[in-house]
Amino acid sequence: MVASTASGEREGWSSRSAFILAAVGAAVGLGNVWRFPTLAGENGGGAFVLFYVACVFLLGLPLVISEIFLGRTGQDDAVGSIRKVAEKSGVSKRWSAFGIMGVIAAFLIVSFYSVVAGWVLYYAGVMGADFISAVLAGDPFRGALMGESQDAIQGRMGDLFANPVLLLSMHLAFMGVTLFIVARGIGSGIEAAATILMPMFFVLLIAITIYGAFVGDMGDALAFLFTPDWSKLTPQVMNTALGQALFSLSLGVAGLITYGSYIKGSSGLGPTSITIAFADTGVALLSGLMIFPIVFAVGLDPAAGPTLVFQTLPFAFQTMPAGALIGFLFFVLILVAAVTSSISLLEVPTAWGIGEMGWSRRKSSLVFGGGAFLIGIACLLGYNLWSDVRLLSFWPLFAELDILDTIDGFTGKVMLPLGAFFTAIFVGWKADRKLVEQMTGISGFWLAVWRFSIAWLCPLAVGTILITGLFPGILGD
Ligand code: PHE
Repeated sequence: MVASTASGEREGWSSRSAFILAAVGAAVGLGNVWRFPTLAGENGGGAFVLFYVACVFLLGLPLVISEIFLGRTGQDDAVGSIRKVAEKSGVSKRWSAFGIMGVIAAFLIVSFYSVVAGWVLYYAGVMGADFISAVLAGDPFRGALMGESQDAIQGRMGDLFANPVLLLSMHLAFMGVTLFIVARGIGSGIEAAATILMPMFFVLLIAITIYGAFVGDMGDALAFLFTPDWSKLTPQVMNTALGQALFSLSLGVAGLITYGSYIKGSSGLGPTSITIAFADTGVALLSGLMIFPIVFAVGLDPAAGPTLVFQTLPFAFQTMPAGALIGFLFFVLILVAAVTSSISLLEVPTAWGIGEMGWSRRKSSLVFGGGAFLIGIACLLGYNLWSDVRLLSFWPLFAELDILDTIDGFTGKVMLPLGAFFTAIFVGWKADRKLVEQMTGISGFWLAVWRFSIAWLCPLAVGTILITGLFPGILGD
C-alpha cells in the first residue's frame, strides 16, 4: 500500500535541493556536533579523524547511494521500497525484513536521541537566561555564568541527571517539537523545517568557528585534529570510527531509504550523495575546529568524553570574551542540528505505519512519537531512580551500561552495522543491475568503482565492525 495525501498522490519533496537540504539536515546532528568531537578527543585526534574520513568516502558514500536508490525506486516506506526493488529484481520479498530492522532501530534511536537533545535544551535555557541577565546588567559581552565557580558549573550536569522531572520536561519539549513537525508531513513539516533551520545552522557554525579562531587556539586544534599518530589507530579505534561514520551519515536505519522515497522525477544520485557526504563530513570537521580551539585556549582536556560539550565548554565560555552570548548560540546550534535529525528518525517508523498499516500520518506519528517518548522516559530514569537497571546484563559487552547507553550501544553496534551490511548485500548482489544503473544515473567507470565498494568492500568492512564490535576480545586490546 502506498501512502497518499487527500488528493491521492504520495507526498514528495518540492525540488532536488529540498531533498538535499532535508537529507543533510538528517545527517548533520548530535553525531557531528557532540559525538564526533567527543570521539576524536577520546581517541587521540589525527589518526582517528583521517581514518574516519576514509570510512565516509570509501564505505559511507556507496551506502548513501544505495539507500537513496532503494527509496527512490520503491517510492514507498522503507519496507515497501525494499520489497518493490526485490520484486522488480525477481528475488525473494523476504529481503524487506532488513527494512523492518531499520524501522525498529530508528524508533529506538529517536527515543534516546530526544533525551540527549533535552540536555542540550536545558543548557540552551541556562545559557540563554544568563545572556539575558548580562544584557539587562548592561554588559552583554561578558563571559558566561560569571557568578558560578568551576565546581558549580561542572556540578550542573550531575544536578540535571539527578532530577528526573527536569530531564522529563526537556525530553517532552524536544519530542513534542519533533512530533509536531513530522505530523505536518513532508512539505509543510520536514521540508519547511529544514529550509529554515539548516541555513541558520550553517551561519551559527561558521560564526562560532571564526570566533574560536580569534579568541581560541586554532593552531593546537589543527595539529590535534589533523596530525596523525598512527600508533593510536588500534583496531578498537578503527571500529569506533567506522561505526561513527555510519551513524553520522544516518546509514543502516533506513533513514535515507525513507527520505529517498519522496524524490519525484529523476536526478543523478551520484552528485546528490556526494553533496550529502561532503556536507556531513565538513560539519563534523568544522565542529572540531569550533570546539577544540576553545578547549585548548583554556587548557582543558580534549579527552573529557561525553561531558566535553556540557561541562568543559561552559567553563571555557566563562573566561572568554562574549562567552555568555557565544555559549548561548553554541547550544542553540546543537539544538537546531538535533531537530532536523530527530525528525528524520521519527519519519522512518511514521512512514512505515502509513505505508504498511494504512494509518493516517497523524496517527502514525503519534503512535511512534508517543512510544519513543515512553522509552525515552526509561532512558532518563536510568540516570536516577532506575540507575541499577541493566537491560542486557547477560551480555558482557552491555552488562555494565545504564538504560540509555544500552539502547545506544545495541543500536549502534548491532542493528546499524547489520542494516548497512544487508543493504550492501542486497543492492550489491541481488538488485537488478539495469535497474540500479537506470535509477542511480551512474554508469561506466564510477559504476564499477561503486559496485566494487558496495559488493565487496562494504560487506567485508562492515561485517568486520560487526564482529569486532560484538566480540571486542578478538582484537586483544
Ligand atoms: N546522523 C544523525 C546524527 O549524526 C543521527 C541519525 C542516525 C539520524 C540515523 C537519522 C538516522 O546525529
